[in-house]
Amino acid sequence: MSIRIMGTGSALPGRRVENREIVELVDTSDEWIRERTGIGSRHVSTGETVVALAADACGQALADAGRQAEEVELLLVATCSPEDVAPCMACQVQSRIGAGNAVAFDLNAACAGFLFALHTAWAYVEAGIYRNALIAGSEVLSKLVDWEDRGTCILFGDGAGAVYVEKCETGGILSFVQHADGSRGAVLAGGSRPLENPWAGQRDFQKFLRMDGREVFAFALRQVPLNVEEALGKAHLTVGDVELFVLHQANRRIIEGISKRLGADISLFPMNLDQVGNTSSAAIPLLLDQLNRKGKLRRGMRLVLSGFGAGLTCGACVMEW
Ligand code: ACO
Repeated sequence: MSIRIMGTGSALPGRRVENREIVELVDTSDEWIRERTGIGSRHVSTGETVVALAADACGQALADAGRQAEEVELLLVATCSPEDVAPCMACQVQSRIGAGNAVAFDLNAACAGFLFALHTAWAYVEAGIYRNALIAGSEVLSKLVDWEDRGTCILFGDGAGAVYVEKCETGGILSFVQHADGSRGAVLAGGSRPLENPWAGQRDFQKFLRMDGREVFAFALRQVPLNVEEALGKAHLTVGDVELFVLHQANRRIIEGISKRLGADISLFPMNLDQVGNTSSAAIPLLLDQLNRKGKLRRGMRLVLSGFGAGLTCGACVMEW
């Protein structure tokens, strides 16, 4: 028994910010950003929220699957940029789309969040607790980015992607792996709030995301191929059996490096980061939806999904579409 993706959806804020607009903010250039990252533009919220973007993407995923919101049993939102601590984003999405019969909660594993949520849904279905799930990755990272830090503000974009999954007897998710290394958390960190209570006094907090880009780069290049090989091994498959690698969209050079290390042709690694940048937990479902709507995915096709992010977290999943 497993789960299969039956429908996909995605949403982007209306405002698209080109590299040349970032050049007006920090000491950088369109050429540098394109050459070092592959990013040409990103969408930035001018009011769109994590909830609104996720609800839009979820509605599309349900429509694509031909299912009604009341049928959903589990609703997960992966995000590291929630607007509120409570109620959680998933409960707010549930209310917006009318998925009143679903249990709903959030999950944060940064850019690996969507994959971890997909695995969570798989585990619930495998345990016989639920038969379907609606899973969104949604981020408005623009509110956590320091727009004066050229090392990070060039990279991130806002957006959401969602999938609706159902229990299946054959195919679907064939295997997955996931890992976390909290001892390396400082490599990419931020978004904390001040501790304010009558006893604590004012403590330091790190509002903006701070990142050691080289460390994250090296981590991704080393870890993603290992995760992919590990997941393929569990499914008794090899790199040659994979028709598409849908990877976290952080940096084109990272994806090219991974393709080389795996010995798989770069044409098997679709990318959209030139248009949307790094949308963290939204990146994989957003790309999946774009591929799905372009007719690039056919039933039975073997895909590998893989992501990495703050935590540090990483994972990979092998599936038959
Ligand atoms: N424009 C111009 N120059 C820049 C910029 C910029 N935007 N940013 C950095 N530089 C400079 C640096 O200051 C440095 O100058 P120096 O040599 O005089 O010190 C030089 O360019 C090289 O800096 P590096 O950091 O080595 O540049 P690199 O080629 O590694 O590219 C980047 C930086 C794009 C951040 C890259 O390291 C990267 O993509 N890392 C991975 C980041 C990532 O994937 N993060 C997301 C993780 S997912 C999540 O959980 C959110």
